[in-house]
Amino acid sequence: MRKPILAGNWKMFKTVAQAQSFVEHLQQLAPNTTDVEAVLCAPATSLYALNNLLAGGTIKLAAQNLHQAEEGAYTGEVSALMLKDVGCSYVIIGHSERRQYFGETDDTVNQKVHAAFKHGLLPIICVGEDLDQRNQGITKNWVEEQVRAALANVSADDVSRVVIAYEPIWAIGTGQTATAQDAGDVCTHIRQVASEMYGKEKGDLLRIQYGGSVKPENIAELMAQPDIDGALVGGASLDPGSFAKLLQGAL
Ligand code: G3H
Repeated sequence: MRKPILAGNWKMFKTVAQAQSFVEHLQQLAPNTTDVEAVLCAPATSLYALNNLLAGGTIKLAAQNLHQAEEGAYTGEVSALMLKDVGCSYVIIGHSERRQYFGETDDTVNQKVHAAFKHGLLPIICVGEDLDQRNQGITKNWVEEQVRAALANVSADDVSRVVIAYEPIWAIGTGQTATAQDAGDVCTHIRQVASEMYGKEKGDLLRIQYGGSVKPENIAELMAQPDIDGALVGGASLDPGSFAKLLQGAL
């Protein structure tokens, strides 16, 4: 019922030439992937060039952030309108690195979600607890609050097109993955929250990814969890061979 979605978040890696070479390799290794939705979240500098390369194929393009305003005197920022213009289908919103280093809050995340929908971009909304919160046993409450805040005033029609990425902060880039069972439990809770907010039918349509040290070796186990519909992958998405294996594993 829910199509798996595998997104590679390249973060601040790859020049335009490196990004193009990645796509050319991936297109040879995994041409026309249709059973899993493949998404590349590239740095803003590469989006235009990648859109030309990806034209007519099944791989979708995503940005890693956007500004909530449509345009204006916001030096260094990029709007939803601009991202749509260069061919983005998705945009990551509220990644923990943005919350930690760039002052993003639940409120700005919500504003960005609305800005994305206004211009036809689909948000991949990141939520997740840090190690301290996990040790305190407040993971589910924390994540629930983030989900409720991110979805404030999002319509029932739009919510079925949202992707939520559950990323425990302590598992990002550390090689430490949440156990599949733990990750699955939090994702089940996220679906319950969405079902409480919008009804079971809408909750069942929501796609939920896990992120945090996902690699070809552990993706199948994570995907076997009933409420995990895909992955948001950082480090292991940087190599086309590894990304192709992740696509296989996400089936
Ligand atoms: O957006 C991706 C996540 O931050 C996970 O990164 O796969 O390098 O742990 P990672």
